Amino acid sequence: MTDIDAFIAGLPKAELHLHIEGSLEPELMFALAKRNGIAIPYASVEDVRTAYAFSNLQGFLDIYYAGADVLRTREDFHDLATAYFDRAAADGVLHAEIMFDPQTHTARGIAFETVIEGLLSACAQAETEHGLTSRLILCFLRHLSEAEALETLAQAEPWLDRIAAVGLDSSEVGHPPEKFARVFATARDKGLKLVAHAGEEGPPAYVYEALDILQVDRIDHGNRSLEDMTLTDRLAREDMPLTVCPLSNLKLCVIDQMEDHPIDRMLDLGLHATINSDDPAYFGGYVADNYRAVATARGLTRVQLVTLARNSFTGSFLPPEAVAAHLERIDAYVAAQP
Ligand code: HPA
Ligand code: ZN
Repeated sequence: MTDIDAFIAGLPKAELHLHIEGSLEPELMFALAKRNGIAIPYASVEDVRTAYAFSNLQGFLDIYYAGADVLRTREDFHDLATAYFDRAAADGVLHAEIMFDPQTHTARGIAFETVIEGLLSACAQAETEHGLTSRLILCFLRHLSEAEALETLAQAEPWLDRIAAVGLDSSEVGHPPEKFARVFATARDKGLKLVAHAGEEGPPAYVYEALDILQVDRIDHGNRSLEDMTLTDRLAREDMPLTVCPLSNLKLCVIDQMEDHPIDRMLDLGLHATINSDDPAYFGGYVADNYRAVATARGLTRVQLVTLARNSFTGSFLPPEAVAAHLERIDAYVAAQP
């Protein structure tokens, strides 16, 4: 391990953009298929990994939704999230805000309760075993209707005290944030925080809609904001967190090569950028791999890496005292470096 790799591994960090269904590793996919007696269209783990070559978001989503079919029982969701938490803890993640896509499962006849109870039991276990805290973010699939999103929010009602936020994911282009204005207003009235994927493939106009119409607390991705300097000025002024996902950007061809990643440009513009893994089983790395990939390709300094880690806590939905405690942990870590 190089100096910078070791520095990244030990740096206290939060992960704010992680789809739990996107942490389904091929090995677990096979194990769950076997446990549930389900046939999958792959002969081997290597065969699955070979299929993970994408040219855009939709190409990925088609494979990602198909993979989720092996998730059937509460235990499956528990095991899925536990595998993620174990991996995240090894990467120095102290807090994770995890997205889940209930509609991917309820559409297959899996009860909302099965999904969320499995995830919640893994969250509790991660806190006991690793001291890793977490929050859940319920995402609406934007290729479906707003009426279906409202129905999903109604199904979540008994668990709303255990859900931190709602989000918006899936196929971005053609499904602008405005389509979900009412369901986001309803979620806001219920006291939930709000996030939305915007500006991954969609234009800057979608980022404006997420801010002005949905009134989000964070933007997921946000890369295409860089095409509009009036927008970047505003995002900086409002200290709006962006949950950036470098390996995802590479795999989904948002950038051509990691050397082109705009992470340091975002920091130079004063943007509240954070580093995250998005769908680590599909994109080739967990959060520390994402830090390492951009650090190497862009020659990031320790000061920039520390800023990114600090941003992950200040952009989280943790209460101010917990954020302050994490920032002190970062300071102590940096002070203890040779
Ligand atoms: N974008 C949109 N939807 C998603 C993603 C993403 O990067 N990952 C999982 N669902
Ligand atoms: Zn995402």
